[in-house]
Amino acid sequence: MAESKSTPITDELYAYMLGHNPPLDPVQRELVEVTHARLPEVAGMQSAEEQGPLLAFLVRLTGARHIVEVGTFTGFSALSMAQALPADGKLIACDVSEEWTAYGREAWAKAGVADRIDLRIAPALDTLRAMPAEPHIDLAYLDADKGNYVAYWEELVPRMSPGGLIVADNVFFHGSVVDPGATGSGAAIKAFNEHVSADDRMEAVMLTVADGLTLARRR
Ligand SMILES: C[S@@+](CC[C@H](N)C(=O)[O-])C[C@H]1O[C@@H](n2cnc3c(N)ncnc32)[C@H](O)[C@@H]1O
Repeated sequence: MAESKSTPITDELYAYMLGHNPPLDPVQRELVEVTHARLPEVAGMQSAEEQGPLLAFLVRLTGARHIVEVGTFTGFSALSMAQALPADGKLIACDVSEEWTAYGREAWAKAGVADRIDLRIAPALDTLRAMPAEPHIDLAYLDADKGNYVAYWEELVPRMSPGGLIVADNVFFHGSVVDPGATGSGAAIKAFNEHVSADDRMEAVMLTVADGLTLARRR
């Protein structure tokens, strides 16, 4: 078996890494703090702090103009990506919660990017299926209910532009993907990872970022 060359991430090393990333801007910082203060029981759903600058970097790197986000919560990842879009870029944000996304709406307005974000409150599968069938999405961020990841993938892949990037979060599902007895979301993510590896339409790499992050590029 190949040996890991990864350095274990201590709290000190994690803080060091954050300290060498682009800092969150005041609106992003406030959104992270407000989410933890007002929604302490579910705040863990927010994308990790380092994923904000990473997603922004990927938007700029790919020159994405049309983004789809599946799973918005209080809007941190959508904010980070929308800020990196050109002024005429668009992000369709999919979620089922008016309550949680209301925090996002407020932050997006404060940051001056509300006009770039089209929030669709509905089951994300319905929203994706209603989109044009031809390739037009430059970047998609997958971060919603794990049981539907394969279905989301199947709706997204044919709609991805050539070279378009799918970013899938939580592909380790807290380590349960290596548990032979994994059930529920852990089992669903295992099935998703197998599905992605077997899909010749996409070139995919799995990274040890936060809870595991897959980057997949449309061939
Ligand atoms: C992990 S959170 C997203 C975190 C977000 N990307 C962020 O950075 O804060 C998952 C979100 O998926 C949403 N969700 C769950 N099931 C859904 C569905 N069937 N359709 C759309 N959204 C769904 C939840 O309401 C929740 O806000």
